[in-house]
Amino acid sequence: MAISSVATVPELAGPRIVTELPGPRAKELIKISEKYEPRSMSDQVPMVWARGERVWLEDVDGNVFLDFTSGVLVVNAGHSHPRLVAAMRDQADRVVNTYDFVNEWRPRLAQRLVEITPPNLDKAIVLTTGAETTEAAIKLARKFTGRHEIIAFHGAFHGRTYGAMSIGGKRSAAGTKGFGPFLPGVVFAPFPYCYRCPFGQTPDNCRLHGTDYLDWLVETETEDDVAAVIVETYQGGAGSIMAPEGWFPKLEAWCRKRDILLIIDEVQASFGRTGKLFGFEHYGITPNLLCLGKGISSSVPVSAIVGESRIVDTLTPGSLGSTHGGNAMSSRVALENIDVIIEERMSENAARVGEVMLARLQQLQNRFECLGDVRGMGLVFGLEMVTSKATREPDPDVTRRIVEAAYRRGLLLIAPIGFYGNVIRVAPPLVIAEEEALAGVELLAEAIAEAAG
Ligand SMILES: Cc1ncc(COP(=O)(O)O)c(C=O)c1O
Repeated sequence: MAISSVATVPELAGPRIVTELPGPRAKELIKISEKYEPRSMSDQVPMVWARGERVWLEDVDGNVFLDFTSGVLVVNAGHSHPRLVAAMRDQADRVVNTYDFVNEWRPRLAQRLVEITPPNLDKAIVLTTGAETTEAAIKLARKFTGRHEIIAFHGAFHGRTYGAMSIGGKRSAAGTKGFGPFLPGVVFAPFPYCYRCPFGQTPDNCRLHGTDYLDWLVETETEDDVAAVIVETYQGGAGSIMAPEGWFPKLEAWCRKRDILLIIDEVQASFGRTGKLFGFEHYGITPNLLCLGKGISSSVPVSAIVGESRIVDTLTPGSLGSTHGGNAMSSRVALENIDVIIEERMSENAARVGEVMLARLQQLQNRFECLGDVRGMGLVFGLEMVTSKATREPDPDVTRRIVEAAYRRGLLLIAPIGFYGNVIRVAPPLVIAEEEALAGVELLAEAIAEAAG
């Protein structure tokens, strides 16, 4: 596979399918997985990863796939970016786990996070997973305000630990169903899922678009003891759902008016994914607490909360941290990754290539009756599959067949997402070149044509 820097690929490195799929080594490993691992780990196509470079992935049988997953929106800087690999190698020779002792890298990472976020966010807590940040944000909001209620949104996904599940807005999802009861004190508001508005509204006549409903919710569902609103910049797991223009500024103004903290969960939307370094920059809003993860390192597990010191400083020594949080390896790699993303202008590439991809995907929407909605921002897209455009009835079967047909052509997609399992998520690494992106969309078009029959 050819290695090259951001967006300058002279020729496509793949895809290359050289065995039946899955190949013999993949089959062997999947068999072991099925025997020794629970089924919770088995929703993806049977691609067994061996190696990655930029936007290309090789499986254990030597088949090469174009990656439209970025892991799960983690590998923003592309697979095995040489600077990240060098940082990992060098740090592995020095020290890796440092518990919560100060090391050479964690304070510098915290400083860098503060430097690149809005001025009110002046302290950072380095942790390990996204769910850890949303849990910690709830704790911080409660501790700082002395209030206990949290407003979250229908369809929201904030992670799989108990606190995080409790603010997740789809209780019938596989990751939530059967695990209740959840944390008390959480109330849910509608997120503007305009393609399937449960109230039958459109953005121009919608009162949710304002904040009347939130006032109503506070009156009816809360003890008027709301500490915070937590919201994703776009709803990821619910199907890459993007709010209409104007919605976020109104939400922010509403929080300010009521002195309620605004927690923005950008575990998924940050570090260039939406075409800006942070997704909230599109809306001109500022959180009080910002949750980061995934693309913060493009590789090893790292997450962080960046927040206002008046809130963060309510923590006393020993009250928040974890075994791996902020260790020397993860902090160093995250710091290097942030520099790589900024210096190699990956957000800009995501914006530019994303626009071209969106236009091409919209052409597919005109061509295929089953492609009901196409939404996108930077390099994250949701393709909502339906039985017919008129009825908008979700079609999870065709969605799954498309993912499988794409895999057979050497295009890797994540298992379907969305309320009804009928959304294809497209999210390539941010270093993808325009030719690669369009070649991938072409493969996707072939897969849709095959699956739709
Ligand atoms: C918006 C958002 N928040 C939180 C999480 C949880 O992150 P993690 O899986 O690292 O715990 C995710 C993961 O997909 C996410 O998309």
